[in-house]
Amino acid sequence: MANVAIVGAQWGDEGKGKVVDIYTEYADDIVRFQGGNNAGHTLVVGNEKVVLHLIPSGILHEGKRCIIGNGVVLDPEVFIKEIVKLKESGRLTDDSCLLLSESLHIIMPYHKRIDIAREARSGDRKIGTTGRGIGPCYEDKIGRRGIRLMDLLNRDVFARRLKEFLVEKNFLLEKMLGEAPCDYDQILEEYSGYAEVLRAYMADTALIINNDLQAGKKILFEGAQGTLLDVDFGTYPFVTSSSTCAGGVCTGSGVGPRHIHEIIGISKAYVTRVGSGPFPTELFDADGDRLRDAGGEFGSTTGRPRRCGWFDAMVIRYAVRTNGLTGIALTKLDVLSGFDSIKICTGYTLDGKALETLPSAPEAFENCQPVYEELPGWKADISGAKSFEELPDSARAYVKRLEELAGCPIVLVSVGARRDQTIILRNPFL
Ligand code: GDP
Ligand code: IMO
Ligand code: MG
Repeated sequence: MANVAIVGAQWGDEGKGKVVDIYTEYADDIVRFQGGNNAGHTLVVGNEKVVLHLIPSGILHEGKRCIIGNGVVLDPEVFIKEIVKLKESGRLTDDSCLLLSESLHIIMPYHKRIDIAREARSGDRKIGTTGRGIGPCYEDKIGRRGIRLMDLLNRDVFARRLKEFLVEKNFLLEKMLGEAPCDYDQILEEYSGYAEVLRAYMADTALIINNDLQAGKKILFEGAQGTLLDVDFGTYPFVTSSSTCAGGVCTGSGVGPRHIHEIIGISKAYVTRVGSGPFPTELFDADGDRLRDAGGEFGSTTGRPRRCGWFDAMVIRYAVRTNGLTGIALTKLDVLSGFDSIKICTGYTLDGKALETLPSAPEAFENCQPVYEELPGWKADISGAKSFEELPDSARAYVKRLEELAGCPIVLVSVGARRDQTIILRNPFL
């Protein structure tokens, strides 16, 4: 019996949604523990493509319990739209399969407005956020002026807190950011409407997860974003505002660390990043364009083109260490088919000196020079490979070299977006 956490090992969009969908078969509960609708997890089932921003990627499997934990920030409008869409496609037939933590924080209209207005004023220093109000909502959570789901569902508490908080928010919007103020009555009415829909899903999810653990059920924790976007361990300040690493599983869901047995880091066979910030192996040439085109590297949330580059072993080693990874799921290997040769970054130099790990300061990170080794590519289309042995020699050698550089076993290789394009080398649940 194992409980498994999935985290992004790079800068997000590694294919977490696909891997969670694959692993859901072996789990009873699937728990999102951080982030919000800045995430975009794409799942391909047959010919159908489903993009989920908030609801755990386990929802496509009947009878699994999907939980949005206390560590998530929830935009009610987006959540409700997601439910409606799922129901329209014949899914989520049993509402009791989806639970929302009573303690999760609600994204308010002023969070989104502040996020967008700040970015617009930051010029070339902007973070490149998704504009979904994530940072401002987490700021209010930590600043003890947030609105939790349980507050939203208590009309008196909600009305009082909203009135109190709007004074400061409108001051910020009008006087600092030059924006129009938010209207109290309008928000009260709109959000009171959402509250009535959300009521059916609210629960003490930490208790439920722990009861399920006691009953021997298997839990799959679904991370969003990635290690290098973690508010503590990422490329600060070019990060998101939550704990995306394995440590966030416990605080974002209410379980103790001893219940997490396996931590699988999801990594592309190359690297992508959306938004600003250091990215030493970024390509600005035809190879970068080729990765973007072949990999369909456009954001699932904002549609922005993703920055693309070669695989970075410094980043993966950092992810292995910071999360305590027990395995790596390597995705999008098929995208590398057709390159004559493929580069791997094995280390960085800064001012001519080799670095042991990633520098903490963004200024230093920006100036790191990647050290590359080059491996032969392969021409064959590998998107139909069903086993590791079926892969061409040079594709196998590439995977083995990544594993060696990472210092962590590769437990899954993905060769396409569909479920059947997955080679499982070791199943962490068994
Ligand atoms: P997530 O945010 O980590 O869940 O990743 P995204 O869904 O944002 O981006 C990953 C994209 O790659 C999605 O469009 C997936 O359907 C797709 N994908 C996942 N695995 C593979 C793979 O092995 N090969 C290819 N070609 N596409 C994949
Ligand atoms: P998934 O779960 C990739 C990036 C944004 C920006 C930074 C801060 O799909 O992997 P935010 O809106 O969170 O304040 O933006 O983080 N970012 C992501 N990049 N994948 C994501 O999620 C991301 N969520 C946020 O582009 O650089
Ligand atoms: Mg994504």
